[in-house]
Amino acid sequence: MKKALNGTVSWVGKIDWELTRFHGDEYSTHKGSSYNSYLVEEGKTVLIDTVWTPYAKEFVDNLEAEGLLDRLDAVIAQHAESDHSGAMPELMRRRPDLPVYCTANGVKSLKGHYHQGWDFHVVKTGDEYDLGNGKKLVFVEAPMLHWPDSMFSYMTGDAILFSNDAFGQHMATERLYNDLVDQDVLWAESIKYYANILTPFSSLVKAKIDQVLSLGLPVNMIATSHGVIWRDNPVQIVQKYLEWSQDYKEDRVTILYDTMWQGTRVMADALAKAIAEASPSTTVVSHCLSKFDKNDAITDVFRSKAVLVGSPTVGKGILTAVAAALEEIKGLRFKGKKAGAFGAYGWSGESVKVISDLLKASGFDVVDDGIKALWNPDDEAIAATAAYGKAFVAKLG
Ligand code: FEO
Repeated sequence: MKKALNGTVSWVGKIDWELTRFHGDEYSTHKGSSYNSYLVEEGKTVLIDTVWTPYAKEFVDNLEAEGLLDRLDAVIAQHAESDHSGAMPELMRRRPDLPVYCTANGVKSLKGHYHQGWDFHVVKTGDEYDLGNGKKLVFVEAPMLHWPDSMFSYMTGDAILFSNDAFGQHMATERLYNDLVDQDVLWAESIKYYANILTPFSSLVKAKIDQVLSLGLPVNMIATSHGVIWRDNPVQIVQKYLEWSQDYKEDRVTILYDTMWQGTRVMADALAKAIAEASPSTTVVSHCLSKFDKNDAITDVFRSKAVLVGSPTVGKGILTAVAAALEEIKGLRFKGKKAGAFGAYGWSGESVKVISDLLKASGFDVVDDGIKALWNPDDEAIAATAAYGKAFVAKLG
């Protein structure tokens, strides 16, 4: 299970090929994931992060089988979310003397999760752990990347940045490095991960990257806690994060909708066709939220300069698939995106206003009052919807 990155640093994590949902049931992982733990064997032998709880025993057994468990001098707990700290109780049960290095928030979070009084050593940005052999780990607090407790560790000499959640992807692969995997999958999973997890913290992402870059440190590898290690031009993912963190948008419009009796679906199709005709350079994508994956839809929202959201009116409100997606979108705090609403109705017709209000409350620039169609859209209603789509795209600049 131990895979060498170089002479003294190894991957000792767990590849989770069967993971289909992450963060409970919130995030789809079409490609599985991995929980990357690293072992540094210099003068000191140090473990950086562990793995998710179901694999705790397997993980610690593997360390023991390779004669590593008794040799450990310390564990660095960069982030207490259980996909990285889940093996800590098993590890500490078998090595209760092991010092645990983490941030002050890491202590709170680890105690909150596991209710144990381990030998915590609190570190702050700039603090160092002497590995021996003239090398050290330098710690960098990275709050909200992904939790308030998160931190990075930079290994001098080998110039490896252990970045925990930052720069990761949910992707299972036995191929450890970014240059060895399918590039389309790598980048699709990287942007999905950013869009669905890191978007709310974009201002902190940029500030943290600027801080790390200002140190002028060489970086040979970025060893994340999920997916591949960036060794081929590792700066490329840093540059992408800088781009994604600054109100990212492409020439793309995403339509999100659900439908009961096809009326709102007919409107969604008319909007997609009209936008494509009015602006051939614009990519239009349409997601029926009750049928397709919510996280993939959110990735398209992240990539878009505008969204159109549709639902029929149901009980003076909107369909639950649309409501659920809008609740998640609210939490992601997208910035700099325009929006409109649409929907079919039979009686009272509140859905378009409900959606518009939710989009406004979520930080979208709602450009107009949206469009409704009474009963099933007839030719006239379809033409009106298409005209609305053309007018909408003309407002996007
Ligand atoms: Fe991969 Fe925030 O845990």
